[in-house]
Amino acid sequence: MGLLGLGFAANAQEHSYAPSDIENGRGLYQGNCLGCHGNNGDSVEGVNLGKGRFRHASSDEDLIALIRAGIPSTLMVARPQFSYGELRSLVAFLRNMQTGGVLTAADTREVKIGDAKAGQQLFFGKGGCSKCHGVNGGGSRLSPDLAGIGSQRSPASLETSLQDPRKEVREGNRFMQVTTKAGVVITGKLMNQDTHSVQLMNEKEKLVSLLKKDLSAQAMMPSPMPSTQDVLSPTQVADLVAYLLTLKSEESAK
Ligand code: HEC
Ligand code: HEC
Repeated sequence: MGLLGLGFAANAQEHSYAPSDIENGRGLYQGNCLGCHGNNGDSVEGVNLGKGRFRHASSDEDLIALIRAGIPSTLMVARPQFSYGELRSLVAFLRNMQTGGVLTAADTREVKIGDAKAGQQLFFGKGGCSKCHGVNGGGSRLSPDLAGIGSQRSPASLETSLQDPRKEVREGNRFMQVTTKAGVVITGKLMNQDTHSVQLMNEKEKLVSLLKKDLSAQAMMPSPMPSTQDVLSPTQVADLVAYLLTLKSEESAK
């Protein structure tokens, strides 16, 4: 909540947004935008939603119109499904994004925090984390880049991500499996879906778009991340948590 308060205050002179709108917008962003725009709003090349400056919009009304209508012939498709209130919430969240990112640090359970240097070595070495995750680039597009993770997640929720990856998966990091009527099975990261279509990033990191009328089945999949539970000792997990906590911003990530 502290992060939220800051964002609210910083923008108060210009705009005022109800904290409940920002919270609603956060949820909508996680469900509908995070997959492409990322946790800090800067995953789409040339776009930075957290900066408060947009190429295609300046006022809140411009933004609302843009999100509703999309940007023709780009992946930024129209979203006629949102009510005006939902669009306002999304804009309230975007206007307050730079201070908090998408997640608030909710889990405040006390956990052991080890040695960050040892954690870094594990991350890039024996722990195998960097096979999937980049830190400011370098990883697979199917796994979240962990730059900035230390300012978005509490130590306890990071520990949970390592020990029990299936327990808590952020909306934009979910995987889905679909079966086409022709019998082809495709598994991938869920980038976006609406009433008629679904977009997945497949194992080859290619974006595929499918019409729901061509599918015979679709189901969410558990996290593909392996648990550290029986592989790493509690000390090693504490070291990794310590390292992840040092990844505070894009600049300090390397
Ligand atoms: C499937 C990927 C995808 C999803 C999901 C997505 N976007 Fe986008 N968005 C893009 C792309 C790509 C662009 C840049 C289009 C271009 O080339 O101008 C963009 C551009 C934008 C812009 C314009 C930025 C600027 O500088 O003017 C805004 C605002 C925006 N998106 C908001 C959202 C919001 C809010 C959501 C969720 C409701 C969302 N997007 C969901 C891909 C996506
Ligand atoms: C096989 C690929 C793979 C490996 C190996 C892997 N991860 Fe992951 N990790 C993922 C995927 C995919 C997700 C997104 C789904 C989820 O949240 O579980 C993820 C999620 C996470 C998250 C949560 C990120 C967020 O944005 O909420 C953290 C933290 C994390 N991994 C750390 C690690 C660490 C530390 C290691 C090494 C011990 C590791 N991962 C090994 C694929 C992997």
